[in-house]
Amino acid sequence: MNDRDNLRSISATIAADAARLSEALDAHMRNSFQPESRKALRKFQPAEVAELTGISMSNLRTRHQDGDFPEVETDARGRRLYSAEEIYQIRQVMAKTGRNGETYLPGRREGDALQVISIVNFKGGSSKTTTAIHLSQRYALRGYRVLAVDMDPQASLTTMFGYRPEIEFAESGTIYDALRYDDPQPMRDVVRKTYFHNLDLAPAGLMLSEYETETAYALQHKIDPPFTQRLAILLDEVQADYDLVIIDCPPQLGFTTMTALLASTGLLITVMPSMLDVASMAQFLDMAGETVRTLEEATGPIDWSFLKFLITRFEPTDVPQSQMAGFLRSILLDQILTTPVLKSTAISDAAMTQQTIYELAPSQVVRKTLDRVLESVNGVADEFEKTIQAAWGREVD
Ligand SMILES: Nc1ncnc2c1ncn2[C@@H]1O[C@H](COP(=O)(O)OP(=O)(O)O)[C@@H](O)[C@H]1O
Ligand SMILES: [Mg+2]
Repeated sequence: MNDRDNLRSISATIAADAARLSEALDAHMRNSFQPESRKALRKFQPAEVAELTGISMSNLRTRHQDGDFPEVETDARGRRLYSAEEIYQIRQVMAKTGRNGETYLPGRREGDALQVISIVNFKGGSSKTTTAIHLSQRYALRGYRVLAVDMDPQASLTTMFGYRPEIEFAESGTIYDALRYDDPQPMRDVVRKTYFHNLDLAPAGLMLSEYETETAYALQHKIDPPFTQRLAILLDEVQADYDLVIIDCPPQLGFTTMTALLASTGLLITVMPSMLDVASMAQFLDMAGETVRTLEEATGPIDWSFLKFLITRFEPTDVPQSQMAGFLRSILLDQILTTPVLKSTAISDAAMTQQTIYELAPSQVVRKTLDRVLESVNGVADEFEKTIQAAWGREVD
């Protein structure tokens, strides 16, 4: 066989492989995908409710005996089990009757602006989606009304909510339909409730990748409103329903990411503590800075209330990583969250079945492993919550 034949046979093999794979995947999806079998959220134990709300376990019991709280399901051993919705109802009772009532509903008060937080970095695999979903869920459980926006055409965040974007949103139903220049849909038609109380989703799908070329075209032909305003206008339509919007960005600095950044009130940049990742982040910041400067010349100053950095997938026993983390702290000072997200098999294993560490039933994981990662992720969320509260002019201890 000469080289040419050889090449042809390799390309024929690849084509045949691709055809076989996509056929098999198709069949697999048709079999395993049942639209009616949606995800459901597990129930929470009293100790978890106490941790989430700050109500002590004994107070929780007393208030139940007094009939102040809604009656909830009990397990075989008579222990109470709470749905996320019931936890929220308890918050509402406490807000009316508890001491320091307002702390039980920590979201916006009159005059407070919606907080829109973009999770960014152009490095793939730097934990953007993982951070977006965990923060969204944690804040929903903490009593905030959260909208998660998936701005990545790869739609990993949407998948984490139990959707199959390649089937369910192949034609329509994503944030693209609201963002597109030709016959855009209202934001309300795109946003959907999820199985997680107080957490809604604007999903993504592959169609969203069209937004890049369409924006380039729209700029040339001066189609309004420009990308710099499109998402902000959409969020305005639904802002009354939420306290926080958390946007998962794609791993490039294109129009899609810029659209998210320009609708944001604050940014959270995830970084893994390795030389290559930090170098890549520096490049991202450099390019983002340049782009923002150019845009500011055209549209006036962009003012974010905060720009924070978060170390992710941190392994404390890895010496070079610890050195890199120290180096980042020495340069970024208070811009970097002091708590990192630890690298943990609980996070990656849970993700394999589209779950987070909050969805895992405590019995599904080794207790010590779960406790360790919960402490880390909760620590990050609690620390970042102070930044959010500070943006509303409130100090939390
Ligand atoms: N702290 C962590 N510990 C272990 N695995 C993680 C952690 N954070 C993310 N991962 C895993 O790394 C992969 C990439 O993370 P992801 O959040 O999708 O990154 P990005 O959105 O930046 O591309 C996923 O498989 C995810 O489950
Ligand atoms: Mg991602």
